[in-house]
Amino acid sequence: MRILQPAETRGGPAIVVGSSRALPVRSGAPLSSLPGGVRMSRGSPAGATVTQGNGPAAGAVRPRLTVSGLQPSPRRVSPAGPASGLFSVRSVPSSSAPAVTGRPSRGPAPASRKREVCAMVLAAGLGKRMHSQSTKLIHAIAGRPMVRHVVEAAKAAGMSRTVVVVGNQADEVRRAVGEGDKRIGFAYQDSQRGTGHAVLSAESQLAGYEGNLLILNGDLPALLPETLKTFIEFHRASGAPLGLMTAVLKEPQGYGRVVRTYSGDVSRIVEETDATLDEKAIKEINCGIYCVEAAWLWDPLKRARADNAQREIYLTDLVEILRRDGHKVAAYRHPDAEEVLGVNDRRELAAAVRALHRRKANALMDAGVTILDPETTFIDVDVRVAPDTVIEPGVMLRGATDIGRGVAIGAGSRIADSVVGDGTVVLPYCVITQARIGRGCRIGPFAHLRPDTQLDEDVRVGNFVETKKTRMGQGSKASHLTYLGDAEIGRRANIGAGTITCNFDGVSKLRTVIEDEVFVGSDTQLVAPVRVRRGAFIGAGSTITKDVPPYSLALSRAQQVVKEEWARRHGPKARRKSGGGGPDR
Ligand code: UD1
Ligand code: CA
Repeated sequence: MRILQPAETRGGPAIVVGSSRALPVRSGAPLSSLPGGVRMSRGSPAGATVTQGNGPAAGAVRPRLTVSGLQPSPRRVSPAGPASGLFSVRSVPSSSAPAVTGRPSRGPAPASRKREVCAMVLAAGLGKRMHSQSTKLIHAIAGRPMVRHVVEAAKAAGMSRTVVVVGNQADEVRRAVGEGDKRIGFAYQDSQRGTGHAVLSAESQLAGYEGNLLILNGDLPALLPETLKTFIEFHRASGAPLGLMTAVLKEPQGYGRVVRTYSGDVSRIVEETDATLDEKAIKEINCGIYCVEAAWLWDPLKRARADNAQREIYLTDLVEILRRDGHKVAAYRHPDAEEVLGVNDRRELAAAVRALHRRKANALMDAGVTILDPETTFIDVDVRVAPDTVIEPGVMLRGATDIGRGVAIGAGSRIADSVVGDGTVVLPYCVITQARIGRGCRIGPFAHLRPDTQLDEDVRVGNFVETKKTRMGQGSKASHLTYLGDAEIGRRANIGAGTITCNFDGVSKLRTVIEDEVFVGSDTQLVAPVRVRRGAFIGAGSTITKDVPPYSLALSRAQQVVKEEWARRHGPKARRKSGGGGPDR
């Protein structure tokens, strides 16, 4: 990717025509204020990220499997929550003198509450550019629904409370965010009349709140908590009632542009659909991340009108409204544009997925995990991997997966919502879903461990073995070509090649129990429900339909018949000699 040179970051010499103030403007701030190069451009073709099951359904909140009985002890602790307590409603003191006539009154907030920041996440839109039946906010990105990335970033940045504005597919979005966290509340936008309207829909939820409000678009999955903290500090230091985050893009198409005055001050934001050609040439975009003092939000925003191409109430109009009232609007230009780009279509979704996977791989490598080819390895954000694990190319680790120390994961394996114990080897091309694998196991190649598989220590599951709702005790082996479903297998049992548990009678699923140290000969069918007692042997090729007592031998083979010299007398050669006809002539 090309690094943008500072000179390129400026747009054309824009003069705003038809603006209420007819202010001469130029785009971009003084060059000295450019914090760095821009690494990403909108519209550049996204890499061919292949993420299986990355559709809306895959974004559902999944419970993390626990490690009990398998893993020694949790290796990590969850990050500490924000220090501040719950948001409490307080009314603005009526005695507070308005700072400027005609502007909203601002009460002197107590020092402790001045530090408090609440967040609002706008998540009521549909996201038409995704061409999807489900709102874009619930599409999965690196293992989390899009909107949850934003909410988690806000939480990790220390927000005392976060209000999520929902509307389109409100229940799905609520579920995607996760209910039950007291620091998260929801507001309802009844019709999607724009980002400004969405913010106003949450007014009653935040009634009486006087501190700073961080407003975030819900489609910013790559956003980092550190960036939000820096931005909030910037906003506080600026003294301006409103601060916004901007970025400079080589290809800014689709985003709102930041229009500045000659002196470099932010003058307003113009949406692509309302922009003149000159304004479209501006490379500095509005990221959809704002910090505003509550006292300067509600009343001024109510003055915004839907007199634009999209007939919507734009939150971005607050910039112009406050400027007209004589306020400054502070802009924080973020150096890493890739982190703050909204996801509006499938290309941008793929780019975000790739960015998050790359970030995750880097973090794991920094923590002592070997990833042979980070470019082809997709590890979801909530996956945990302990040091000294080696991950070969083409591996996908998805959802709430927990990989132990010193594990080897072979090329092309996909592990989802599973636990893998220390020192286990997963050979190439295994598919493992909702399974718990103990320490020192050896899996694959080409093994398929389906939900509710539990392998204790030192278990061996070889090639073309499929397991489902099956537990295998310590030291047991199923090395080749086997199906084990609804089975309970004890310790040190040996399951021969081609063993099949016949667990389905056409109506219900039935269990097979194989106790400790049982030897199941090759090509055995175990017709459930059936129990093979401790230490028993089953002769190869048997169909077992009745329970087998301990330490016995069960055989259900048909007796072998041998007809000596049969081939010489009746085989094809003999038939040809005798002039016999037949299809093989
Ligand atoms: C918005 C900004 C644009 C900025 C861009 C950054 C406005 C008017 N424009 O444009 O300046 O460059 O984000 O990515 O704000 N939403 C609602 N209710 C609505 C409409 C939208 O909750 O009625 C939510 C959406 O779900 C989304 C967010 O607000 O999470 C932004 O909406 P979106 O339609 O993506 O805005 P953009 O056109 O990208
Ligand atoms: Ca957007």
